[in-house]
Amino acid sequence: MLLCKTVSEMHDACRSLRNAEHTLGLVPTMGALHAGHLSLATAARAQNDAVAASIFVNPMQFGPHEDYEAYPRDFDEDYHKLESAGVHVLFAPSAEDMFPPGNTTYVDTGDLGSRLDGASRPGHFRGVATIVARLFHIVRPDRAYFGQKDAAQVAVLRRMVRDLNFPVQLVVCPIVREHDGLALSSRNRYLTSVERRRALILSQALAAVGQLVEQRETRAEVLQAAMRQTFAADREVRVDYAAVVDPETLLPVEDIFGGALIAVATWIGSTRLIDNLLITPRS
Ligand code: PAF
Repeated sequence: MLLCKTVSEMHDACRSLRNAEHTLGLVPTMGALHAGHLSLATAARAQNDAVAASIFVNPMQFGPHEDYEAYPRDFDEDYHKLESAGVHVLFAPSAEDMFPPGNTTYVDTGDLGSRLDGASRPGHFRGVATIVARLFHIVRPDRAYFGQKDAAQVAVLRRMVRDLNFPVQLVVCPIVREHDGLALSSRNRYLTSVERRRALILSQALAAVGQLVEQRETRAEVLQAAMRQTFAADREVRVDYAAVVDPETLLPVEDIFGGALIAVATWIGSTRLIDNLLITPRS
């Protein structure tokens, strides 16, 4: 696997790959890789002739009181995982190289970027969209791979690709879970063993909704009540949102008949975790 540490090296490496191969897939990450990330690399490997990945902890998507400094970084381990997953070129730039002094250009994600995580993390999606747009320009992939766990990020990036006419196909891969249902996240490493057990409340709230949906319940208020009831079982859990929304607009829906995203975010101790369930339209 070729390692590129500067924008110009990566630009050249991707140009050569695109000339030599038919299709190029991109897996953007912030490192601290787990099986969810590796499932993106595996899908990219299966669907493209060549695969590029990036590791960059993007300061622009962290708020002033968030965990940018503490965010787990383990470059050597990540490098080997990506190499074993068959990635051809890895981009690991410095913050100075990605954001040279005097940078004033950003991607404005509008109202969409201020919903769900964007409401409690102002500026987060502007940071995500800006870095992903840059990666798309540097790599020029045919396909780019993202996890369904970050459902609001998926909505924002889909809209950006459409609105700015990026010639890339977004491929969204399913959530990967631990055996007991906890969605994989780089932030799970922050949890103490007690918090790790309490964190199951997110997937339990979604499972309660899933059961109701199987029983053909479609009213959002009933699904929300089931989530509230689950969260009420742990008085220490702070719920950020438990929402029933349209997966594209992230606006609330009253009925899930036409499909919906059931999305939850909670703080378990000082760790903010998210999870979701995508409901397909009823036929
Ligand atoms: O999902 C992530 O890990 C990040 O938000 C991304 C897409 C790599 C942008 O920094």
